[in-house]
Amino acid sequence: MLGAPMADGHSTGDAARAARADLKPIHVTEQAQPAPAEREAVFDVRDLSLHYGQALAISGITMPIYRNHVTAFIGPSGCGKSIRCLNRMNDLVPGAKVSGTVLFHGHDLYAPNVDPVQVRRHIGMVFQKPNPFPKSIYDNIAWGLRILGRKDDLDGRVEQALRRTALWDEVKDRLKSSGLALSGGQQQRLCIARALAVEPDVILMDEPASALDPISTTRIEDLIHELKRDYTIAIVTHNMQQAARVADMTAFFSLDVSEGKRTGVLVEYDETTAIFTRPADKRTEDYVTGRFG
Ligand SMILES: Nc1ncnc2c1ncn2[C@@H]1O[C@H](COP(=O)(O)OP(=O)(O)OP(=O)(O)O)[C@@H](O)[C@H]1O
Ligand SMILES: [Mg+2]
Repeated sequence: MLGAPMADGHSTGDAARAARADLKPIHVTEQAQPAPAEREAVFDVRDLSLHYGQALAISGITMPIYRNHVTAFIGPSGCGKSIRCLNRMNDLVPGAKVSGTVLFHGHDLYAPNVDPVQVRRHIGMVFQKPNPFPKSIYDNIAWGLRILGRKDDLDGRVEQALRRTALWDEVKDRLKSSGLALSGGQQQRLCIARALAVEPDVILMDEPASALDPISTTRIEDLIHELKRDYTIAIVTHNMQQAARVADMTAFFSLDVSEGKRTGVLVEYDETTAIFTRPADKRTEDYVTGRFG
């Protein structure tokens, strides 16, 4: 990890903010955070590296991810904001090899006896492009529940998941219609509802709103706010205003291009307010002020 101070111990005083007023292109809502000592780490990532074949894509990532927090991953394209390492989706990529440790509630996610299918049930994922199954709205949600054998009160569970994503009123009269017949924003909320239906602990979102119009984007952001009461959320976004709006913590990644390599590194990880108003690293400052990237 390249000089990545943790969130602890920064002044949040007005004086410090005023002193860096020139670095405030983005409005950040101050959010009351528990003192760092009270935060519970859901993930503890330690010296994580990822190879694709011989190429080292990311290196030396060390960071906790806190329960009931929204954690944003920002940084230029190709720097390896690879939250897929957090639910073993990389297992599905030929040649991908993870080293280091990812602890999930203290358990090694990559231990030999861990079933990646179970991992993905507890750590759900939503992708950039909404990807409903070519099935009915109802069956999109019921699918995971049926696989898990949770067939009791299927109707109730489907309704609950659709209500959680504020989709119920829009689709309750056409549950048998194809999920693919929904608008892009509705499809994305359907995918989030599908992820929620199996009662995960964490939801990973890889640019969940980048293909959506501003109104649908706002709905997804509102939903993220709602969901963090019950879930831990990690979100990759290229939209820095979005990171500032939704995230409690922000991790800035960059590319180390020394020695002809292109390796993603974690530059700085801190409370979102600090990242956007008083970053500790010049590279973060350049990125969040739009001077780079
Ligand atoms: N399946 C793959 N096979 C080989 N290399 C890959 C694969 N997926 C990603 N990479 C490489 O790993 C590096 C990081 O890619 P990654 O997709 O994690 O970046 P990112 O930060 O998510 O970028 P973006 O913002 O464009 O989505 C890049 O150099 C990329 O080319
Ligand atoms: Mg990406």
